[in-house]
Amino acid sequence: MAAKQTRRIQKVTKAVFPVAGMGTRFLPATKSIPKEILTLVDRPLIQYAIDEARAAGIKEFIFVTSRGKSALEDYFDHSPELESTLRRAGKDALLEILRETNMDSGAIAYVRQNRPMGLGHAVWCARRLIGDEPFAVLLPDDVIAAEKPCLQQMVEAYAQTGGNIVAAMEVPLAKTASYGVLDVAQDMGSIVSVKGMVEKPKAGTEPSNLAVIGRYILSPKVMLNLDKLKPGAGGEIQLTDAIAQEAEIPGNVFGYRFRGQRYDCGSKAGFLQATVAFALSRPDLRDEFSTYLNDMVAMQKAAQ
Ligand code: UTP
Repeated sequence: MAAKQTRRIQKVTKAVFPVAGMGTRFLPATKSIPKEILTLVDRPLIQYAIDEARAAGIKEFIFVTSRGKSALEDYFDHSPELESTLRRAGKDALLEILRETNMDSGAIAYVRQNRPMGLGHAVWCARRLIGDEPFAVLLPDDVIAAEKPCLQQMVEAYAQTGGNIVAAMEVPLAKTASYGVLDVAQDMGSIVSVKGMVEKPKAGTEPSNLAVIGRYILSPKVMLNLDKLKPGAGGEIQLTDAIAQEAEIPGNVFGYRFRGQRYDCGSKAGFLQATVAFALSRPDLRDEFSTYLNDMVAMQKAAQ
């Protein structure tokens, strides 16, 4: 990690949340509700991502949205009628919960992706707001349960590496075709240096079993790469391809094996797993819910 001595590492204070996808795997729900508003227990997916970003020191939140996502914009506004009703009723605990959803005026910016041309294109839509600064990208449908929030772990790792850093986790080889996959130059434990990246590799061509998930810290140079990119895998502009160009420079792209459990809440099975895990981690629900689950399992076994 020679990068540490040679580069001045700029603080990461901006984050991009690409939320312009169509969420087809959750139709019909996502016909009128943005996927990011689907709730794990009682908090929408987007709230988990915002909380994680805040914990990592992010001050500017840039949402890349599309048609039909106005519920997302409303979610972060003050709700004067609701707040005054709760205040009059003395419901301070609920008021406090609502307060966590309010963002300061000007802290959130919305840019529009007018056609779903892929994750890379969505990130590129935020280029003017990013300017010449490093930035984080968080995909709200990847929810990560961790003692120290994942992006905070990455910001700490980035303070050592600089460059670009992507969250990575080991997956079975048979599943690499669903991810961006790292070509590892050097494995240093929690941090690996990367010499290439492939989006959704064909079976047998995967460079490793280290898959990229939805947390990134990127240099502004990635935006310039996106400027020139042609559609890649699936006919979409791939963020992976723009980062892979940076990986051609040794010591410029790193993978970070985060500590925590990632749930793919963009898929039905992952969303259900996260719902169960988050419900079981809640002191107000744990006992009743685990009794119910145990009973369900016992009933299923008896019926077989
Ligand atoms: P997904 O691959 O999960 O696509 O996008 P999707 O459209 O959200 O969902 P499905 O596959 O149709 O069910 C990963 C992330 O990239 C964003 C999505 O909003 C999600 O956060 N995205 C994807 C965009 O913002 N724009 C795009 O053109 C594509």
